Amino acid sequence: MTGSPGIFEPGRIGGISMRNRFIRSATHEGMGDAEGAPLESLEKLYVRLAKGGAGAIVTGYAGVLQQGKSCFPGMLMMHDDRLVPAYRKLVDAVHREGAALIMQLAHCGSQTRSVATGMRTVAPSPIKDRFYSEEVPLELTEKGIREIIDAFVSAAQRAKAAGFDGVQLHLAHGYLLAKFLSGYSNRRLDRWGGSLENRFRIVSEIMQGIRGRLGDYPVLVKMNGYDGMRGRDAAG
Ligand SMILES: Cc1cc2nc3c(=O)[nH]c(=O)nc-3n(C[C@H](O)[C@H](O)[C@H](O)COP(=O)(O)O)c2cc1C
Repeated sequence: MTGSPGIFEPGRIGGISMRNRFIRSATHEGMGDAEGAPLESLEKLYVRLAKGGAGAIVTGYAGVLQQGKSCFPGMLMMHDDRLVPAYRKLVDAVHREGAALIMQLAHCGSQTRSVATGMRTVAPSPIKDRFYSEEVPLELTEKGIREIIDAFVSAAQRAKAAGFDGVQLHLAHGYLLAKFLSGYSNRRLDRWGGSLENRFRIVSEIMQGIRGRLGDYPVLVKMNGYDGMRGRDAAG
C-alpha cells in the first residue's frame, strides 16, 4: 500500500522545502522590542523549536503599518526597511537548525486601540469591534486602502530581503483583512464591498502586488473556516 506521505516525510508548500510536515502555527510571542524588531529571546525560542524538529515555523503576527499595530505589547513589526538586518539574524539562526521560517503579516484594523498606535483605528466600515475596543473605527478611504495594500507588499519585500522562506497573510481572527472578507463588518457600497469578489479585492490586490514585485515568492494565507458572525442581514 502506498498511502499518503507520513508527517515525518519531507514536504513542499510552493517553493518552500521542509524536512517534515510539522509547522508551528503563528503565535504572538510578545518578543518584539519597542520598534518591533525581534528580541534575543525570540531567536532562542525559534532555535529551540527548530532543534526540536519543526519543519517550518510561522512567526507571530508582524505589523505592516504603525496604524495596524497590536494593543498587546511586544508585537513584531515589518513596516520599516531598518528592521531587515535584525530579521536576517533571526532567519539565519533558524536556517542553521534546518527549519524554514515564514513571516506572518497583519494589520489589526479595529482590533487594536489608538493608545497603542497613536492614531485612530481603521476598518472597512465604521463598526465597533465587539471584543477589542470601545472605539468606532474610521472608514477607510480609497487612498487609505491603497496605502495598506502597498504596506503589505513592501513588508513582503522586506521579508524576502531578510531571507524568510515566505510570508503568510493574516486573513483570519477579525483583523483588518478578515473584516473586509466578512459581510458583517464590510458594509461598503463601493468596489471594496458587497459581492464576494469585491470583499476579496483587497487581498487579491495584495497578492497581485507581491507577484508583480517579488515574482513567485511563496505567499500563504490563513483564513477562518467559520468566524462566528452572521452576514449583514442578521447584523442588527
Ligand atoms: C497565545 C496565542 C497567540 C496566537 N497568536 C496568533 C497570531 O499571531 N497569528 C495567528 O494567525 N494565530 C495566532 N494564534 C492562533 C494559533 O495560531 C492557532 O490558529 C490557534 O491556536 C488554533 O489552533 P489550535 O486549534 O491548534 O490551537 C495564537 C494562539 C495563541 C494561543
